[in-house]
Amino acid sequence: MVKIINGQVLAGKIKDEVAREIFKLGGHRPNLAIILIGEREDSMLYVDLKEKEAKKVGIDTHFYKCLANIDEQEVMDMIDYLNKDDSIDAILVQLPLPQGFDTDGIIRAINPTKDVDRFHPDNLEILFKTCQHQHVIPPLLKAVLEILISINCQLKDKCVCAIYNSEIFGRSLAKVLECQGAKKVDIIRADDNNLTEKTKRADILITTVGKPKFIKKDMIKKDVIIIDIGIIKESKKVYGDVDFADVKEKAGYITPVPGGVGPLTIAMLFKNTLELYKQRHNL
Ligand code: GUN
Repeated sequence: MVKIINGQVLAGKIKDEVAREIFKLGGHRPNLAIILIGEREDSMLYVDLKEKEAKKVGIDTHFYKCLANIDEQEVMDMIDYLNKDDSIDAILVQLPLPQGFDTDGIIRAINPTKDVDRFHPDNLEILFKTCQHQHVIPPLLKAVLEILISINCQLKDKCVCAIYNSEIFGRSLAKVLECQGAKKVDIIRADDNNLTEKTKRADILITTVGKPKFIKKDMIKKDVIIIDIGIIKESKKVYGDVDFADVKEKAGYITPVPGGVGPLTIAMLFKNTLELYKQRHNL
């Protein structure tokens, strides 16, 4: 019977650690600026959650809510202002942006030292070129590593298969797992011709497809560790990529949706925010 990896519990531990470290700063609080463009319901919910949870650990958030028809230059000016504002330690632009915005250009405008998501090309280059990036890597990747640590998973004898829908995510995940010593990392798209052959070889299956019940038991190896990053809302219910009822007798571990990777990624965002604060203040 599958063991469920409780992301809320893991997130709670990380947030406790962050809160304790912030408490030791003696009244100083890291500052995180969040920019949201448009009114996507899921993005507004995520941002709201990030703000609420940040307060609990002692991070001050500065929320910039922009209309979907804001001029792109105004967004650039806002980022420029935040880059120069000495009180701001970390900047996050909630993605995806509304159609018509130059996502790459906007991410490139963020000062790399304040780029809490680590999507800036300079930060991605460091990620791809070296393995010296233990501290500040994209929060989602940090969450994946923490999940594997929590179950004492030794990567060096494991084959990983990651089904991705974003090139940057797939490549950066592969790099981080290889740096951590994974035996083999296969990154594939959901429409890969040999999808099942590849997913069945995996000791660790990471999926970020965005299709409810996409992963079935005939696609997995017995005792596989499944990390479900898919998140889909349908009729007010939230689903992951995995058909839980179908795989539960065959898989070894699984992260639930909701309550798995999501809360842990938010906790890792706070860990990154604190790390950027410490780097800026030479602590
Ligand atoms: N939208 C969904 N996940 C993320 C994330 O990790 N960072 C940002 N900026 N936007 C997101």
